[in-house]
Amino acid sequence: MVWDKKHLIEIDPLSREDNEKIFDLTDKFLPYSGTDKTIPHKERKPLDICRGKLMKLWFGEPSTRTYGSFEAAMIRLGGNAQKFDEDTSGLKKKESIKHTARVLSGQCDILVDRHSNPQHIYELINYSLVPVINGGNGKHQHPTQTLVDLYTMERTAGIDGKKIALFGDLRYGRTTHSLIRGLGLGKYDVEVHGISPPGLEMPIEHIDIFTRSGNKYYSHVIKMEDLVNLLEKIHPDYGYATRIQDERIPWWERLLRGKKYRYQINKRISGHLMHPLPIATNTKYGPEIATELDDDDKSIYFRQADYGIPIRMALIVTLLGLEDATLKLA
Ligand code: NCD
Repeated sequence: MVWDKKHLIEIDPLSREDNEKIFDLTDKFLPYSGTDKTIPHKERKPLDICRGKLMKLWFGEPSTRTYGSFEAAMIRLGGNAQKFDEDTSGLKKKESIKHTARVLSGQCDILVDRHSNPQHIYELINYSLVPVINGGNGKHQHPTQTLVDLYTMERTAGIDGKKIALFGDLRYGRTTHSLIRGLGLGKYDVEVHGISPPGLEMPIEHIDIFTRSGNKYYSHVIKMEDLVNLLEKIHPDYGYATRIQDERIPWWERLLRGKKYRYQINKRISGHLMHPLPIATNTKYGPEIATELDDDDKSIYFRQADYGIPIRMALIVTLLGLEDATLKLA
């Protein structure tokens, strides 16, 4: 499979070379992303690579990081971003996704879509006149988060030769699905441990894609109170926590097994601690990470969130075919 750079719907077509090109651009954009608060404002030079370009954001599910970082990325590139509001749109008059996608794409240069229905984006791309980026399609994939996660690991302690533990809700947590697919298809040399309570295991289709690369996946189905001890035994280089996806779990499952899903990391683990965020604070399942760990050097989830902006700047520029405009950047 070769990435045609027309859209970014799944992580699957991206080769390691594609990832690395995006990461090189991300390095260039980092000082322009507004995330480094040590750079005095008078030294922060604005970019105009995307001047006159418009992004539309169709977000049918809540979002802080993905929505906010796409919007910030486009604005930092000198372009504009607009929210498409389903509640005040023709969708309320029963307009089809097809017509909505066609009309919206006529109004902009690039479209980002997040929806609880995994099929929504596949319908949308058929009728869009412009590049479409998947900002999370239900329980399926979250490819831009995967690029953020891979970049964070590459720039922290590297990826090859590392042991990664994914834990929490591996069944409905889309970020872990695209992450192991990306690790496998990108031919990274890693060992992955998937840890979850019974009922929230990683779907086999994603494990298959990952292990086809020759890498090993170890599945641990445990009582979540044993998680911290198990992590001590596994001794991962990266621990990747995920929120229990309450909104995707069917009510009967929640009733039957919900109590067993709760877990918390309340002390330092062996490796760097990652999380795509948000950490849930007011549900019966969380918080998955105790707030005392927020300031720990090994907790890298806020840096991971910050990298969301330069990664998405790199992606926008790539999909709009504007990479040449970055040559003059240091
Ligand atoms: C995640 C998502 O939306 O899948 N958040 C994100 O985009 N960074 C994780 C989650 O909601 O648990």
